[in-house]
Amino acid sequence: MLLSSLLGLGWLSTARAVTVYGQIPFGQTSALASASSTSGGPVPTGTTSTLLAAYDETILNPPTPPNDQNLRFTLNLAATNASVPNLSIMQHGSFYGFSIEMSVVTQIMGKNSSHIQVPFLNLMAQIQQRAGSVHIRMGGNTQDFAVLVDNVDGGHATTKEKSDPKNPTLTPAVLYTKELFYLAANISSLVNVRWYLGIPFNDTNWRLQIAEYGQAILGDHLIGLQGGNEPDYYLSHNHRIEPYGPFEYFGEFGDLVKAVQDNPNIPIKNMLIGPSLASGPWMPADLWKTPYIDTYKDYLNAITMEHYPSNNCFVQYNVGSYVDPQETFPSFLTHQSALDLVGIYIETSNIARGLSKPFIMFETNSATCGGLPGISDSFGAGLWALDYGLTMAATNFSHALLHVGGQNVYYNPFTAPPTNQSAFNQWTIGAIYYSVIIVSEIFGKSNVSQIVDTSNNGLLTPSYAIYDNGALDKVALFNFMDDPSGAHDIVGTITVNGGQVPPQVYVKYFLASSVSVKKNLTWAGQTFGNKFEVDGRPKGDLSITTIKCDQAANNCIVPVKAPAFALVFLNDPTTATSADAPVVTFETTALTKTVNTVTIDPSVLATSNGQSGKERSKLGSTSSGSANAAEGLRALIPGVSVLLAMLLGAGVVLTSLAR
Ligand SMILES: *[C@@H]1O[C@H](CO)[C@@H](O)[C@H](O)[C@H]1NC(C)=O
Ligand SMILES: *[C@@H]1O[C@H](CO)[C@@H](O)[C@H](O)[C@H]1NC(C)=O
Ligand SMILES: *[C@@H]1O[C@H](CO)[C@@H](O)[C@H](O)[C@H]1NC(C)=O
Ligand SMILES: *[C@@H]1O[C@H](CO)[C@@H](O)[C@H](O)[C@H]1NC(C)=O
Ligand SMILES: *[C@@H]1O[C@H](CO)[C@@H](O)[C@H](O)[C@H]1NC(C)=O
Ligand SMILES: *[C@@H]1O[C@H](CO)[C@@H](O)[C@H](O)[C@H]1NC(C)=O
Ligand SMILES: *[C@@H]1O[C@H](CO)[C@@H](O)[C@H](O)[C@H]1NC(C)=O
Ligand SMILES: *[C@@H]1O[C@H](CO)[C@@H](O)[C@H](O)[C@H]1NC(C)=O
Ligand SMILES: *[C@@H]1O[C@H](CO)[C@@H](O)[C@H](O)[C@H]1NC(C)=O
Repeated sequence: MLLSSLLGLGWLSTARAVTVYGQIPFGQTSALASASSTSGGPVPTGTTSTLLAAYDETILNPPTPPNDQNLRFTLNLAATNASVPNLSIMQHGSFYGFSIEMSVVTQIMGKNSSHIQVPFLNLMAQIQQRAGSVHIRMGGNTQDFAVLVDNVDGGHATTKEKSDPKNPTLTPAVLYTKELFYLAANISSLVNVRWYLGIPFNDTNWRLQIAEYGQAILGDHLIGLQGGNEPDYYLSHNHRIEPYGPFEYFGEFGDLVKAVQDNPNIPIKNMLIGPSLASGPWMPADLWKTPYIDTYKDYLNAITMEHYPSNNCFVQYNVGSYVDPQETFPSFLTHQSALDLVGIYIETSNIARGLSKPFIMFETNSATCGGLPGISDSFGAGLWALDYGLTMAATNFSHALLHVGGQNVYYNPFTAPPTNQSAFNQWTIGAIYYSVIIVSEIFGKSNVSQIVDTSNNGLLTPSYAIYDNGALDKVALFNFMDDPSGAHDIVGTITVNGGQVPPQVYVKYFLASSVSVKKNLTWAGQTFGNKFEVDGRPKGDLSITTIKCDQAANNCIVPVKAPAFALVFLNDPTTATSADAPVVTFETTALTKTVNTVTIDPSVLATSNGQSGKERSKLGSTSSGSANAAEGLRALIPGVSVLLAMLLGAGVVLTSLAR
């Protein structure tokens, strides 16, 4: 049990108006989706319609499962990777990462290098523990108009320039300072985050400071510089004038390559990434008709694309046609969604592999223009993102980055509280954050994991086999159907071809009561909490189901509820992790110079396994609802006393780590 659950910080929030800036919509140029709302604290009292999208409570009806579904199937899996058709390239636990819209960086990551969001660090530390590192792109539509300035109000790393009221469709520029790089560098000194940045590409008067300071300040933690973000939309977004097609983008990219070559402050010339098409107006094949690859391959260190399967642009910006969430929901709850998403990239995947370069889905999520209510944050979306990620991995994508916006989108993997009043444990995560955690666990830290799609029982029950270091190591089983009666629970039988099943297998389940719900999600028995309850650490006891196999018959029989996901480990997963480093978690030992400073003596924690009553009352006496109380609950780094939590059995040992 961890500290946060003892603090009871519900009193911290008071109702307060907030203005929220959105991502630039697909199909039009306005970036400013301004919404005014009030937040009433951990459990907002407003009706659903007054809630910001990230806290929306729409619950859709789950699709009716088919009557003729085969509920039992057998996977006969090769014992080794020697001759498995369609087996993937070597994958990394960092397969899934995040794409954080530049305009929300300060909301999510921290105001500046000395004010870092503790829950964000915790959420990233969970991935690092499983994968070794986390890949994050800071960018999105707002990167193309970003401008480096000396200072912004409050010493923050970014701010948004007011758009001209006479011209509301003008994209407001993100202003950023060198603090942006120091913020990222300080985060990387605490959790192994590796960064992608984007060079502004709105015109060819190149503003290359992001490349200069990115390389100088982030060093090895900078892993790519994007050149162009969804250039196939530049024309329809009015960011270019006619003619603008693949050849014009090809030409501009060459201009960027030359500008980087000529700039002595960008020592590493070959870390550009592109073309990041949205596969909207142009398809990848349209660009491959230009000599893009042959001309720029020595300057590119990854091939990228960006794509979303659906959109909510009609509702958000009155563009396109209405997408009905209830009617659309079933299309997310089938393996067909993942197959369709990767289908258009097979050629590009082969091109990247031919060049020995990573192929990255650089920005994706369930639906552009903010996601779809009832879908994007449901358990169903969690299953969808998991299946999509594994299908991308099986198709030789190397990474995929799930997009993160502000509070006015439905699809966030994680959302900071709506006001700067709110406390550290009032974050919200979406079901797709669990998908990231699970994928990081599937590929782990070995760097020699391979995956193959073994689906053989229809589109509602996909499955995968995972090889590690040449040997069959894990099996992933999905049940997209929804039936609380149990009549659509499935049973997967695993047999090993050219070897024998182990005496037992260890199963971790990803569970919720329905594909529609947003509450009570668990992964191996643990939850990160419902909305406004998240501090970035899992709660509850780890629960791993052990299933005895029949070695004489060479099979293991694994049940999977409707709905659920099961990860079957052929080797004991707890022995693997006990050898690994413990998760570093960041407590709220916080530190401001105000009277409201809350400090927690690590020695008390070490012995009491939690917060003492005395300190709780001290916390309770900090001025409820005041800005300083809220600030006091954010760890400020450096100077923070970071607590290293080692989960040893049921006990929690906390020791202080001087910084
Ligand atoms: C390999 O993948 C291709 C493309 O998805 C598919 O057509 C083919 O059937 C697969 N081969 C096997 C043996 O599964
Ligand atoms: C992925 O790469 C492997 C080689 O590592 C290859 O055998 C396989 O066909 C590729 N899959 C696809 C879908 O291109
Ligand atoms: C590109 O963006 C910069 C910074 O926002 C702006 O000053 C410049 O006018 C833009 N260029 C075009 C062609 O819009
Ligand atoms: C960083 O942001 C915090 C919180 O807004 C602010 O108090 C502090 O002054 C800023 N730091 C600098 C160096 O401006
Ligand atoms: C953290 O940020 C400060 C600026 O506030 C910078 O001087 C320092 O080098 C950064 N630390 C790391 C490890 O990047
Ligand atoms: C896996 O790759 C990462 C990043 O390239 C590297 O830091 C790590 O040491 C590698 N791990 C192993 C076990 O080789
Ligand atoms: C099987 O795995 C081993 C160890 O990771 C690797 O060296 C080998 O290339 C893999 N074989 C195939 C066919 O992917
Ligand atoms: C979540 O769990 C609580 C407590 O067990 C229960 O009352 C509630 O009905 C559950 N909600 C959902 C959507 O599963
Ligand atoms: C919240 O943050 C905004 C922008 O940084 C600032 O102007 C405002 O004063 C802050 N409000 C409180 C209550 O701290």
